[in-house]
Amino acid sequence: MDIQLIQHHLNPLSRKMFGEIQLHEEIDSTNADALRQLREGKVGNWIVLATSQSAGRGRRGRQWLSPKNAGIYISLVRLFEVNADALQALSLVTALSLRQALAKLGINDLSLKWPNDILHHKKKLAGILLELQQSADHCHVVFGVGINIALPEGAIEKIDRAVTDIAAICKEQDPTSSIPDSNRIIAELVNEMSANLEKYLDQGFVPFQALWNQADCYLDCDIVIENSSSRTIGKSLGVDESGGLILQSANGTKSVHGGEIFPSVHELP
Ligand code: BTN
Repeated sequence: MDIQLIQHHLNPLSRKMFGEIQLHEEIDSTNADALRQLREGKVGNWIVLATSQSAGRGRRGRQWLSPKNAGIYISLVRLFEVNADALQALSLVTALSLRQALAKLGINDLSLKWPNDILHHKKKLAGILLELQQSADHCHVVFGVGINIALPEGAIEKIDRAVTDIAAICKEQDPTSSIPDSNRIIAELVNEMSANLEKYLDQGFVPFQALWNQADCYLDCDIVIENSSSRTIGKSLGVDESGGLILQSANGTKSVHGGEIFPSVHELP
């Protein structure tokens, strides 16, 4: 990874929004590092990148395996001068941004699993973990994104779900092609994020709703949604205009705002 190359591919809006990029050879977790800097009083927008993480964090307390040069490990830190309640759908906006960035580089056929997984043929390519630091009059969101680029065999075996990487997708799309440069992938992600964050602050989730539903791999499927306190079975009707998942169950239709989707027993993962 090369900070100057990344900056070279950033558009003017991104350069203005995320001018500072910090790159570490190895770190415990780019999200943890960003939160540490916030606790120490740093304010504003910046990016933390690492070529490997010794304690990469996943959703729901899971570990995110982060071997050296096998993936992109990035945290974008962004200051918002709005109440955190207005930021509910940001994880979906991040997933859409990554999908758009990869499409620009010729990586297509990616689907989304609510609220923020990026899949290729139902195998996980990338994960997103948002962490929040709230102050009296503002908040910072840490947008942590992990993208599998070329996972070593040993790592794939350690992960308890079907995973894929950019190398495998490119090989499948065109065996003679090479994989896009990671600096380009990072820059395109930051470019999409910068534009989409502006749009979200201006118009909310409404302009993203249809885009999400077109890419949602569980739309109209029977699913189970689990969170720390409950487990609900129903049919996914896609997301509403606030990014909540509309679930049709025996008790009626409701909008769900947190949790993890699993396919119901009627459908194979
Ligand atoms: C998930 O469980 O799907 C979310 C994975 C998020 C991993 C990324 S890698 C960069 C950033 N730093 C972390 O420790 N986690 C996120």
